[in-house]
Amino acid sequence: MGGTLDYDEAEARQEEAIYSTPAAVARRDRVRDLFAPEPGDKVLSIGCGPGFEPAEIGWAVGNAGHVHGIDRSKAMLELSRARCAPLPQVTLAQGNADDLPVADESADAAVAVQVFEYLETVASAVSELARVLRPGGTAVVCDADFSSLVWRSPNPERMARVLDAFDDHCPHPRLGSHLAPHLRGAGLTIDRVEPNTIVNTSLDDTFAAHLMTFIEDYAADHEAIGPREAQAWADDLREQAAHGETFFSFTQYCYLVHKPA
Ligand SMILES: C[S@@+](CC[C@H](N)C(=O)[O-])C[C@H]1O[C@@H](n2cnc3c(N)ncnc32)[C@H](O)[C@@H]1O
Repeated sequence: MGGTLDYDEAEARQEEAIYSTPAAVARRDRVRDLFAPEPGDKVLSIGCGPGFEPAEIGWAVGNAGHVHGIDRSKAMLELSRARCAPLPQVTLAQGNADDLPVADESADAAVAVQVFEYLETVASAVSELARVLRPGGTAVVCDADFSSLVWRSPNPERMARVLDAFDDHCPHPRLGSHLAPHLRGAGLTIDRVEPNTIVNTSLDDTFAAHLMTFIEDYAADHEAIGPREAQAWADDLREQAAHGETFFSFTQYCYLVHKPA
């Protein structure tokens, strides 16, 4: 993640660690269950990140299918290339979600998971998604609403201040609850909206633990927080975890849509 989502190698590795956690694996399973890729399908993975998403969809579509992963980050694409190397049905390219290097109506399905909330221009990314889907094609767009974060802390005021500052890390921290008009505006039909809630009760290599590290780094550089308070915020959480009192809950909203035939 990050304000502009321009990752260096270390940040891309940090993101890879978050996407290796059981909660992230379960989310990808859930997204695949929603759009149900079949052998032979041509699927687009928009903002494919460290490559778990295109690799796993690649297994589902098999050798007769094709997954094309697109990401604007070179560091992410390197991780993706290494992960997808054993899968000839997966190709990867650098590109922008709001100007996809993909032909009209060429995809049977597409996924964009925690990508659109990071774009300045959600409407153009959604209209690109609609352009590249074939009539009858399906997509899952999944974004968070960061106000869904329920994160126990011995210092709730400090937690509120840090989360408030963290809202600045992306242009659309509430997009998960604001996506529907964008999708309908691009001519897509919404079939279902499903919440994906991650609940962690420890900091042992969990989604919460990795997000905590990311937020600590982000808040340290934020003018409203700074390094001392960012560390105090994380120390609160580490201390609480040592007493077995972690509670973290975070919801992303997954929209299953199709392009009318
Ligand atoms: C939070 S990660 C999600 C990765 C992946 N979708 C997953 O769920 O495993 C967001 C990804 O979107 C990519 N991204 C951000 N803005 C983008 C844009 N305008 N065009 C393409 N990719 C973008 C980032 O580089 C990053 O890899």
